[in-house]
Amino acid sequence: EKGGWSSFMAKEVAEQPEAVANTIRGRVQGDQVVIPELDGLDDLFTGIRRVIITACGTASYAALVGKYAIEQWARVPVDVELAHEFRYRDPVIGDDTLVVSISQSGETMDTLMAVKYARERGARTLSVCNTQGATIPRESDAVVYTHAGPEVAVASTKAFSAQITALLLLGLHMGRVRGSLDASAADVVAELQELPEKVAQVLADETEHVSQLAGWMADTRSVLFLGRHVGYPIALEGALKLKEISYIHAEGFAAGELKHGPIALIEPGQPVFVIVPSPRHSALIHSKVVSNIQEIRARGARVIVVAEEGDAAVLPYADEVIRIPLASPLLEPLLAVVPLQIFAMALATAKGLDVDQPRNLAKSVTVE
Ligand code: M6R
Repeated sequence: EKGGWSSFMAKEVAEQPEAVANTIRGRVQGDQVVIPELDGLDDLFTGIRRVIITACGTASYAALVGKYAIEQWARVPVDVELAHEFRYRDPVIGDDTLVVSISQSGETMDTLMAVKYARERGARTLSVCNTQGATIPRESDAVVYTHAGPEVAVASTKAFSAQITALLLLGLHMGRVRGSLDASAADVVAELQELPEKVAQVLADETEHVSQLAGWMADTRSVLFLGRHVGYPIALEGALKLKEISYIHAEGFAAGELKHGPIALIEPGQPVFVIVPSPRHSALIHSKVVSNIQEIRARGARVIVVAEEGDAAVLPYADEVIRIPLASPLLEPLLAVVPLQIFAMALATAKGLDVDQPRNLAKSVTVE
């Protein structure tokens, strides 16, 4: 039930601190990640030469974040493949390949067929799923459940946060098993515990601000989203949320692609969200994104930045600044996505749309 909320989506956005906390619970021992479901399954992770993460829609954006996490901690190459593209070619997979599928419902036909195909080819399979006993986990060698609780709204929100959380845990678990973690991993494990509170802080500090912004933009016809590194999948997710529930044209780009084409779209008044990576992690990446902001601003874009607290470099060029708390690079997506979800929801509401039941869409796509 919706409780006191205006929509399931509003309720599910607000439940994200809990979704993240419940997904972490029971999977941290001291300064290490130990996922009990994977006990005795170390050979899934040792002796592999590559990982393919396969999924559709929002889950495929979580997969892109997962790629960074698994490569960083488990030191194994990771590719992300849309499930519906995966088996319609002749992918190079075998028993040295771990195919990780991600699905909230566990019933998405495209993803299920990709998993079956991978198994037939001899790959090892692991499913990240939010629905106990669903078909995809049953068809996989192993499963790591996300504990977001039932997600009712068609637009995925808390399941996405739980998927990213589970992939961070999986990366740290794999890294431990493979012996590839360095000393900094223990700090990340400690920081994971603070995540639910930080997500709650974004909700508390930015909901009203971002909703107001959306109210002013109810007539907007197109919104662009830019991000770099793990901010790129968040840009894609921000754009998908807007398309799905407010029927506004939206596109997410890797910020570095701007000058290779998309900058031609910028005309005076064009709203552009920019996810700014923390300057504490890489001054170079940060400065590149700031110069992207300058480039679009010079062409008249209306720039809305999502930046960490205290990042003053963005102030001279931003029309609006949305703040998120400080976090390690791979944890930032969990904070940056929240204002984008709120924005899409508020804009759809301002247009008088039903955010839970967008036109033409089903919660679970069980046909190919
Ligand atoms: O149940 P799944 O996670 O497999 O669903 C995958 C996509 O269909 C789903 O994420 C879809 O993109 C959502 N409507 C996004 O909000």
